[in-house]
Amino acid sequence: MVDRQKLYEGKAKILYATDNPEVLISYFKDDATAFNAQKRGQITDKGKLNCAIATHLFKVLAAAGIPTHWLETPNEREMRVQAIKIIPLEVVVRNLAAGSLCQQTGLDLGTPLEPPLVEFYYKNDDLGDPLLTRDRIKAMNLADEAQIETLVRLAEQINQVLQDFFQQCQITLVDFKLEFGLNHQNQIILADEISPDTCRLWDQSETSLSDRILDKDRFRKDLGQVAEAYQKVLQRILAQGSLS
Ligand code: TMP
Repeated sequence: MVDRQKLYEGKAKILYATDNPEVLISYFKDDATAFNAQKRGQITDKGKLNCAIATHLFKVLAAAGIPTHWLETPNEREMRVQAIKIIPLEVVVRNLAAGSLCQQTGLDLGTPLEPPLVEFYYKNDDLGDPLLTRDRIKAMNLADEAQIETLVRLAEQINQVLQDFFQQCQITLVDFKLEFGLNHQNQIILADEISPDTCRLWDQSETSLSDRILDKDRFRKDLGQVAEAYQKVLQRILAQGSLS
């Protein structure tokens, strides 16, 4: 591999510079973490699977008019993406109650949320990614009112597109996490990745509460067959796909 400048290494990806200051390389690792990196492991070929899944989902979203950072996927583990200034918020959309929502509210697993919840968490590992209010976001100068509105609108649109898409794959999109950034024109665009690492995905053809899980909850809960579940998501997506 050509020597290149590493700009940032996160838990699941590495960002490298390119000759063009407006373009970065996002490299997908096999490393997996959960519970703010208290649990660590490797999932064989996860980087390749997530790169392929996220590539396809970015194409689906772009075709629906959502601005994303994705430019090209030159090889199995790398994406060329627009260089952006990341907004340090995790925007979580929930269609059914699961995970921390159940733990924090007592809502039963799988309770439908109508309308879907759009929540903001502070992307800060030292603070444990706390849930934020709109007022806190403004007080912390993370985003202004108009930007918060744009984030909510984009999150809702993305949810609509992805819910419809996964439905065609016989997969229920339970919840997912998005990250956004500002490009050189100060436009808010979708960044990071969308993959089984960042979504809860339930196989509609499985009735067992554990067998239906096709996402990182398999790793979080030590359910096994993690790579196989991610592979199943990719297969269903590709079987669906008309996008090249
Ligand atoms: P939660 O129920 O643990 O709050 O997670 C909600 C969704 O966000 C779920 O699809 C997993 C995803 N997520 C991430 O992508 N990264 C994270 O750090 C966390 C906590 C959740």
